[in-house]
Amino acid sequence: MLKKQTLILLLSLACYAANAQPENSKPILAVVGTGYVGLVTGTGLAHVGHHVICSDIDKDKIDKLNHSIIPIYEPGLAPLVQENVDAQRLSFTDNVAQAIEQADVIFIAVGTPMDDDGRADMKYINAVAQTIGQHLNKHKVIITKSTVPIGTGKNIYNIISQHAPEGATFDVVSNPEFLREGVAVKDFLHPDRIVVGVSSERARNIMQTIYLPFTQQNIPLVITNIETAESIKYASNTFLAMKIAYINEIARLCDKTGADVSTIARAVGLDSRISPQFLRPGPGFGGSCFPKDVAALSHISKDIGLDLHLINTILISNQKQKDYIVDQIEHALNGSLSGKTIALLGLAFKANTDDIRETSALTIIKKLTEKGAHIRAYDPQAMANMQALFPDITYCNDPYEAATGADLVVVVTEWDEFKQMSLEEVGSRMNQRILVDTRNIIDTTKLTQLNFKYILLGKK
Ligand code: UGA
Repeated sequence: MLKKQTLILLLSLACYAANAQPENSKPILAVVGTGYVGLVTGTGLAHVGHHVICSDIDKDKIDKLNHSIIPIYEPGLAPLVQENVDAQRLSFTDNVAQAIEQADVIFIAVGTPMDDDGRADMKYINAVAQTIGQHLNKHKVIITKSTVPIGTGKNIYNIISQHAPEGATFDVVSNPEFLREGVAVKDFLHPDRIVVGVSSERARNIMQTIYLPFTQQNIPLVITNIETAESIKYASNTFLAMKIAYINEIARLCDKTGADVSTIARAVGLDSRISPQFLRPGPGFGGSCFPKDVAALSHISKDIGLDLHLINTILISNQKQKDYIVDQIEHALNGSLSGKTIALLGLAFKANTDDIRETSALTIIKKLTEKGAHIRAYDPQAMANMQALFPDITYCNDPYEAATGADLVVVVTEWDEFKQMSLEEVGSRMNQRILVDTRNIIDTTKLTQLNFKYILLGKK
């Protein structure tokens, strides 16, 4: 406690000093990569008063951004981009080299996709590091925002050194992001904490200046070394993924025992040592982060000779949850899926995104079609993405069209639209009234009144 107070005091003093800087000594920031992390980070930093150049090698993306078209679905982002472009704090370019040369501080926010054996693929990060080295025309701070394996800071340092002009100086910093898709703008502007890993006093001071608008609002800035900052990101995501896998296992237990998972989650979450967050059971976690980061941490630990059993089993538990949903659907249809029509409500890995990466809907579609079912799918945002992977299932314009002629409706994503849909209308369109709610969001009183047979997760 004492340590935390001392840290806050020291930080506010440092912030006060940094705040005394004149406007024209503020660093110019560049962000390389305008995916959701880069775009939200760049826009957020512009919004708190910095001058930010967002760059990307994808000309099409930059063209769109320069015409006020946001290439991703992220609530609240479009007006914020516009506001900061209008205020001339935010600009977009496909000339990455020029953005690097103009900047004092460069955020690397390119992708680290999972490669074939589950490790983080570093080719994009390494390519950016090389470009930075080649354009190191003055001292720069190079910051990794993307989730990167522990030790990446050192690798980036080596790559930049190899390509940098003789005598050039620079600092490498780790500053992992904790943005959730769908609420990324809020998460950026009101974070629980900011984590920064540095290896020099100079880098520490610059990072304190950049995040001054946040520390002034008493948002904790955890400053540590690079390896610790890189590890914090993996530790956070793995813990959250474990929490979800855990409550999903409790839900499966409840289905057998007759206990109620919502009440358990509430009561367990009221223990302040645990917290109620991320204890919502569902069809298994998905997205571009948890599955990839849990797999990467397993690999990182195995590569250094560690067998971390708990972490290694999170993905197995999560896959079991996805399979369990398919079993529940099969069970509700008396064990036979062949020739059945199933309405799938929700394709995105969670609400308020069009992202279908690692979504449970993928497992569900694949397994149900293999077993001979016909799928009628609807999602408010993610249908185009799914259509590219599964062109042969039927895509519908709303939940009612999806339910038409269906033998069962399964709710996969917790969109508000599904909480609010008319169950009378859904029921009247169905061949038989059976509903599987993998998110426990549908009004069960209504379902009972309307003579639905319904299956929830971990509750009667
Ligand atoms: C996650 C983290 O929450 C962010 O802090 C982190 O920055 C991000 O990964 C990242 O590494 O970039 P995100 O993947 O956008 O964010 O989505 P979450 O809101 O965390 O949800 C992940 C999955 O867990 C979804 O499929 C969601 O439906 C599921 N979930 C979440 C549950 O099933 N139950 C819960 O209680 C919470």
